[in-house]
Amino acid sequence: MRIGILGAGNMADALGTQWARAGHELTVSGRHPDRAAALAKQIGPAARAGSWAEAAVFGDVVLLAVRDQAVPAVLEAAGAAAGALRGRVLIDCTNPVVPGRFTLATQGGSSMAERVAETAVGAHVVKAFNLCHEDVWRMTPPVFDGSPLAVPLCGDDADALATARSLVRDLGCEPVEGGGLERAGLLEATAAFMIGLWVCGADAQAVIPPLKFAFGAR
Ligand SMILES: NC(=O)c1ccc[n+]([C@@H]2O[C@H](COP(=O)([O-])OP(=O)(O)OC[C@H]3O[C@@H](n4cnc5c(N)ncnc54)[C@H](OP(=O)(O)O)[C@@H]3O)[C@@H](O)[C@H]2O)c1
Repeated sequence: MRIGILGAGNMADALGTQWARAGHELTVSGRHPDRAAALAKQIGPAARAGSWAEAAVFGDVVLLAVRDQAVPAVLEAAGAAAGALRGRVLIDCTNPVVPGRFTLATQGGSSMAERVAETAVGAHVVKAFNLCHEDVWRMTPPVFDGSPLAVPLCGDDADALATARSLVRDLGCEPVEGGGLERAGLLEATAAFMIGLWVCGADAQAVIPPLKFAFGAR
């Protein structure tokens, strides 16, 4: 698959490296071309660097991996409003979390993923990969207590979801149906809440019962 990456930071590195290992071709882009070039070099021969617009049109799949505040400007520079991402799978891993408060920067409005879908005309947006730290995405594979990490996906297009599922499996993880894009905000809120717990030293996993107790104990 051809994957364009909007962003040349930690998530671009973590996921891009995994996908290059799995045999995909990448174009990475960033605010500073030299950083994008350095990341492409580090990933290896399957990756090259380009502008935001070049990464957007290169990919059958495009990963949006920039800070949430930068999303509108990056989508604009990528030509998203003009249709550059039309027909492509646009994976949104961003977390619009207010630092220190662990609330949503989007509170009271549409989710970030829905805003992305509104701007990126014709793109098939899938929210994914936003719940775990970059170092988890670097694990080969992310397996805990013998179970592969489960990765929820929210999106509206069946083919785009199938593509995203295969990219999840490339990491050795198991995809989980999270519902339509209208539920992406729940993934964003979950990330905000869990990050808040982790920062306070609480184990976010421990606040949720195992499946067999989810609907009661009897
Ligand atoms: N890191 C994680 O563990 C993690 C996990 C799940 C989800 N996420 C989400 O994934 C997204 C990317 O995170 P990250 O850790 O990869 O961030 P990062 O390392 O800071 O990289 C972000 C990328 O966005 C670019 N950028 C930042 N501000 C910009 C601006 N104003 N205009 C244009 N480009 C700008 C950065 O360029 P420069 O390099 O030039 O600054 C860089 O290419 C975020 O939304 C984050 O919430 C992160």
